[in-house]
Amino acid sequence: MRFWIVAAAFMVAAGGVRAQPCNMAAFEPCQACHVLTRDAGQKPGPQLAGLIGRPVAGDPAFDYSPALRSARDKGDVWTRERLEDFLTDPEAMYPGQWMGSPPIRDARQRTDLLCVLGGR
Ligand code: HEC
Repeated sequence: MRFWIVAAAFMVAAGGVRAQPCNMAAFEPCQACHVLTRDAGQKPGPQLAGLIGRPVAGDPAFDYSPALRSARDKGDVWTRERLEDFLTDPEAMYPGQWMGSPPIRDARQRTDLLCVLGGR
């Protein structure tokens, strides 16, 4: 009996290490406007597939604000640091941007979002 409890605990721990699952719940408030696939469908925001390493304003099918387009023209690329700053306060980073979503003040939620949006 004790063996099975230890074995089960070990399997749970091993599975957790292997899969490194992101907390997908963090992305729930974003889903009204964003998808994580290349096809954004009818969402009001750009798709966010493979975001880390992608140029700012990088969804070719989306009509971005002048603020984000000029960031792209300057050569801005989404790094983890840039994304964390953007999520903390989008308007401070790109004044005049169009994302109607509140700043994410909670560091834990930003970490979860970085995991969902870019892996690790
Ligand atoms: C109400 C709709 C809405 C919600 C909710 C929303 N966004 Fe956005 N998001 C937008 C729009 C619109 C843009 C484009 C902004 C612009 O062009 O200035 C955008 C842009 C972005 C970009 C830049 C994309 C690029 O291609 O450069 C990121 C990253 C982003 N959102 C992440 C998030 C995350 C993470 C959440 C959830 C915490 C979220 N958004 C919630 C509408 C939304």
